[in-house]
Amino acid sequence: MISKKILEAINAHIQEEMYSSNLYLSMAAYCESVNLKGFAHWMRIQANEEHGHAMKLFEHLVDRGGKPQIKGINEPPAGFESPRDVFEKTLAHEREVTKKVHKLYEVALEEKDYAAQILLQWFISEQVEEEARVTETLEKLKSISEGSSAIFWVDKELRKRAG
Ligand code: FEO
Repeated sequence: MISKKILEAINAHIQEEMYSSNLYLSMAAYCESVNLKGFAHWMRIQANEEHGHAMKLFEHLVDRGGKPQIKGINEPPAGFESPRDVFEKTLAHEREVTKKVHKLYEVALEEKDYAAQILLQWFISEQVEEEARVTETLEKLKSISEGSSAIFWVDKELRKRAG
């Protein structure tokens, strides 16, 4: 059994993860448009991972007899100024997601929902990893001056991300 409060909170977070997936797909489209194939590859994988996060929550609800609800998702932004802008927005977005995951965990604590707590501990660790990964690339981008061909070196690095 799952409480109504947890069911609603997890359903709301499924929506967040689906939004994240669309946001990164939109970023992949931008990166393709400026011919940064490595950046686009990285963002595609990120979009797939976010979809995977939504599915983890979906399956958790199903396993516990709760009904997942697929709600409308806001349109993500499509215009970005530069690869650095993309990664700044990615980091800002992930920090917001981290706050939401922590709030969700607090609900699981209040509800004494141990199964949800275990699942959400995975999400808490994942957020630490994601923020670190994005920060690492952002720091590289900050050290590159605009118009520098060093961007292609970062592009090559990002192309190596395994899916
Ligand atoms: Fe699913 Fe980027 O957090």
